[in-house]
Amino acid sequence: MAMRVRIFNGTPRKNGNTAALTRRIAEEFGDRADVKEFFLYDMNIKGCRNCGICQGPKGDGTCSIKDDMTALYHEFLAADVVIIASPIYMWNFTACTKAFLDRLHCLFRDDGSLNLMLGKRIAVATTMGDDIYVAASAVNAVEFFCQYFECKYCGAIAIPYASKEQIARPLYRETIKDFVTSLENR
Ligand SMILES: Cc1cc2nc3c(=O)[nH]c(=O)nc-3n(C[C@H](O)[C@H](O)[C@H](O)COP(=O)(O)O)c2cc1C
Repeated sequence: MAMRVRIFNGTPRKNGNTAALTRRIAEEFGDRADVKEFFLYDMNIKGCRNCGICQGPKGDGTCSIKDDMTALYHEFLAADVVIIASPIYMWNFTACTKAFLDRLHCLFRDDGSLNLMLGKRIAVATTMGDDIYVAASAVNAVEFFCQYFECKYCGAIAIPYASKEQIARPLYRETIKDFVTSLENR
C-alpha cells in the first residue's frame, strides 16, 4: 500500500507561498504516496480549553470538543507521515496551526496509560519573509513535541525570503527532493 502522507497546512492563502511549497512536496512524492492536504484556516478548529477530560479517568484518546478536528484525528492517526505546514507569523506558526497541535494532546495521557502518537513520523514545512532563523522556535517546538509524545521527528524544510520564484529555484527544487527522499526512507 502506498505511504499515506497527510499535510496539515495552516496558511490562510491557498495560492500563497506555503501552499506552493506543499504542492511541490506532493508533486515530488508523485504516485509513490497517497498525499492529502488539509487547510486548517478554513476549518472550524477551536483551541484546547484544558477541560482535562482527556487526561482524566474517561480519557480515551478523543477530545470533548466536537468540531472539524474530529475528522482530522482520523487522518492524523492513519498517516504514515505527517507534515505540519505553516508560514511563520511573529516567529511562530499561525494560530490555526497552533490550535491543531494543541488539540493533539488528547491522543496521549500524561499518566502513561495511552499514547496514540507513539512512533508517528512528523516533519515540518514552513515559509517566511525573512531568513530561516525566524522559524527556530516553531521548529524547535515540534522537535520537543516529538520528544515528549515519543513521535519520530523527521526534519524540516524552511524557505527563507519566500516567494513563488524562490520556491521554484533549482536550489529549493533539490532541497524539496531531498526532504521527500528522506521521508520515504525513514
Ligand atoms: C501577520 C504576519 C506575521 C508575519 N511574521 C513573520 C515573521 O515573524 N518572520 C518572517 O520572516 N516573516 C513573517 N511574515 C511573512 C510570512 O511568513 C511570509 O510572507 C510567508 O511566506 C507567507 O506565507 P503564505 O503565502 O503561505 O501566507 C509574516 C506575515 C504575516 C501576514
